Formats: sequence, structure tokens, C-alpha cells
Amino acid sequence: MTVREVWEELEAAVVQRKSLFHTPVVATFDGKVPSARTVVLRGVNQAERTLRFHTDRRSSKVRALDKFPALAWHFYDHREKLQIRCVSTAHVLFEGPVWEEAWSQTQLLSRRCYLSEVAPGSVVAEAYPGFPCELVGREPTLEESEPGKENFCCVVGVVSKIEILSLRFEGHERVLFEWDEVAWRESWLAP
Ligand SMILES: Cc1cc2nc3c(=O)[nH]c(=O)nc-3n(C[C@H](O)[C@H](O)[C@H](O)COP(=O)(O)O)c2cc1C
Repeated sequence: MTVREVWEELEAAVVQRKSLFHTPVVATFDGKVPSARTVVLRGVNQAERTLRFHTDRRSSKVRALDKFPALAWHFYDHREKLQIRCVSTAHVLFEGPVWEEAWSQTQLLSRRCYLSEVAPGSVVAEAYPGFPCELVGREPTLEESEPGKENFCCVVGVVSKIEILSLRFEGHERVLFEWDEVAWRESWLAP
């Protein structure tokens, strides 16, 4: 598999909701504890080598990224037996054109989560749906959704390392692609 093919797979996964690469796991480290969680892949730019997801700026992953602005990304398609691992920087955006555009493209139902009255991960006295109770069972109106913009942020990572592992009966394939300032350097690895 070439590095271009990897990027094409990831680009396709942004719009193909059924792609198993649509929901990668991203891992952070806050200096004490590693933490991994599923996110939705919202943007891929091969030319800029970036991957993007969206989150609540009050979440613990954003606090971890303040301390260590780096991400490990894990994608796995069990049907293809293909694992893709990436290492990137992490830039948390809560202003600017990329953030504005991302918010304007965010569907009303997705915006609902950014309306949570409490920060994600807060201890609550009883089960809480993650958004105001009056929005249970419905999406917010455009007007209702707007205050969520304050909590909305984009996390953009510039990828420096990609590793693929393809499991095959005929023989596995493990390849490392490392960005060396002008191009991707490719190395075969023992699986
Ligand atoms: C299918 C799926 C998709 C998710 N997508 C996102 C996402 O795009 N952004 C996000 O912040 N959390 C998403 N979550 C929730 C996270 O996995 C996680 O529980 C939450 O963000 C809190 O993580 P943190 O405490 O590490 O910040 C998703 C969870 C699932 C199961």
C-alpha cells in the first residue's frame, strides 16, 4: 500500500459514515495518564498532511493537549484486516476560518452536545443526557444551537508518521511512512 492510498482511504472515510475508518481512536497523554477515545474523523487534507476531529473545549482531552500537543490515531478495518496508526501534532482551534467553517457545517443534532450545561466528564447527581433536557428527543433549532459554538473546537493534527499493518494469508505487510520535511520516507517493518 502506498502512502497516497492511505490518505485516499482516510479522505474517503470522512464522508463515508459506514467506513470503519470514520471513527478512529485518538490517544493523548497528560504527563501522568494515557487516555484513548473514539472520535469522528471530520477532515483529512493530504496536501497539508492533516487529520481533524471536533470536540468540546471543556473536555479532558483538550486539557491533556494543552500540556502535550500530540496525538496518536488508530484506525482499524476488521473486514480488510487493515490497521493504520498515525502520529501527529495537535492544534486546538476555537477561532479562525477553519473553525468557523467547521461550525457552519456541523449538523444541528451534532451541535446539541455542545449545549451541555456542564463540562463533559463532570460528576453529576443523576443520569444526564449530555445536553439540556428540553432537547431530549429532538434536534435544536439553528437559533438554539448557536450558544454551543462557544464550547466547540476543532483539533487538527499534522501527521509526521503513518504505519500500516495489513494481515494477509499470503503474508502480512507492515510499512512505516515518515515525513522527512519534503517527502514521505518509506520503510518495510517486520510484522
Ligand atoms: C462513535 C463515537 C463517536 C464519538 N465521536 C466523538 C467526537 O467526534 N468528538 C468527541 O469529543 N467525542 C466523541 N465521542 C465521545 C468520546 O469517545 C469520549 O467519550 C468523550 O469525548 C470524552 O472524552 P475525554 O474525557 O477523553 O475528553 C464519540 C464516541 C463514540 C462512541
